[in-house]
Amino acid sequence: MDKHLITGGVPLLGEVRISGAKNSVLPILAGCLLTDDPVIIKNVPHLNDVTTIMKLLGQMGANLTISEGLTIEVEAGHVNVPYAPYELVRTMRASILVLGPLLAKHGQAKVSLPGGCAIGPRPVDFHVEGLRQMGADISVDGGYIQASVQGRLKGANLKFDIVSVTGTENLMMAAVLADGVTTIENAACEPEVQDLANFLNCLGAKIEGHGTKTIVIEGVKSLKGGTYTVLPDRVETGTYLVAAAMTGGRITTKSTRANILEAVLHKLEEAGAEISTGEDWITLDMRGRRPKAVDICTAPFPGFPTDMQAQFMALNTVSEGVGVMTETVFENRFMHAHELRRMGANIQLNGNTAQIEGIPHLTAAPVMATDLRASASLVLAGLVAQGTTIVDRIYHIDRGYECIEEKLAQLGANIKRVQS
Ligand code: EPU
Repeated sequence: MDKHLITGGVPLLGEVRISGAKNSVLPILAGCLLTDDPVIIKNVPHLNDVTTIMKLLGQMGANLTISEGLTIEVEAGHVNVPYAPYELVRTMRASILVLGPLLAKHGQAKVSLPGGCAIGPRPVDFHVEGLRQMGADISVDGGYIQASVQGRLKGANLKFDIVSVTGTENLMMAAVLADGVTTIENAACEPEVQDLANFLNCLGAKIEGHGTKTIVIEGVKSLKGGTYTVLPDRVETGTYLVAAAMTGGRITTKSTRANILEAVLHKLEEAGAEISTGEDWITLDMRGRRPKAVDICTAPFPGFPTDMQAQFMALNTVSEGVGVMTETVFENRFMHAHELRRMGANIQLNGNTAQIEGIPHLTAAPVMATDLRASASLVLAGLVAQGTTIVDRIYHIDRGYECIEEKLAQLGANIKRVQS
């Protein structure tokens, strides 16, 4: 199993290119199942989760061609196995995103239940219930969701009790080929949901209202092919900016967009960073200053993203003052707190809140990654710790950060990957 070895104390300086968004490209690749025609996806990040969904589509009978590194052509006209096995779904919950497209296009699907994960139970009941309301016959048996529909799915008025990102995406994809109009109320407004809607519209779907709480989808008979460029990754952008803020550095993130992470930029400014932005870049300057602790409360977009909570906890551990962090999206997303404590961090946990009193320096220690964003927070902690931190189980980080050690090393960090 690979590990990261990080020797802290170097302020990050320079420029880093941001990759395409993991949480956009996964639904977009699943959405390719909705058309028989070839689809070209550009700005695809090289991530383990992308490999997993490509494997899944390939097993179903799709042809996938990778060209020029960042481009994938998908041709799903020959898909004949509408089946997502447990072996693949258990490594990546987002595999559930094939359920809606398979059912809408092929009238049937068998998809493994994803089960729990390190950040909480994460059920898929909203996905299942929404598809039922659209006329699907669904049973859950032997750990699998078995779904079928006679003819086409029917448009329906759907309403989420809690905002769900992949729930909104799955039902939006199902509705694109349904008979009639579907309305999704209390829909997720995340930029990645908007990106998926824009992608589907580029193939001929009729979706309106994406980016607001009410999405309206008028079903069409079929989708055509097309070419689409994936949105930049706002969480990767935010992670590098926090790294620069913690280390007292100055970096520019390129090929990204400031308007997809305003809540994060606002908190970085509150922490004392100077931020400037252009059309496709963000510069953060924190040279010679120690960050100030910030209070955070996670919420669906446009609120502060849960996917940046762990990185800001790392920032608070070395900031001046006390920061209170409240996690409202997932039940159990503080696993990194226990590992950060092993590096000397002063963190008190109480239910879904964490109180962090900043200290001048963390101390290097062997630590264990438990999920994707938790791993990122441990790498950030390693960048400011005295000594050499060893982060174990970094396969989690490879699911969502393209070439993280190369990108950090390019900014001057002392980080390398070793095999144990
Ligand atoms: N929920 C239910 N029932 C459902 C679906 C969700 O109770 O059927 C609950 C969840 O348990 C959770 C809340 O609703 O408490 C919100 O979960 P959501 O469905 O929005 O999460 P998700 O769609 O499974 C996506 C991202 C996550 C990100 C969350 C929240 C993808 C592939 N994953 O997950 O990304 O944290 O939205 O923004 O888009 C990550 O990238 O590290 C990551 C975990």
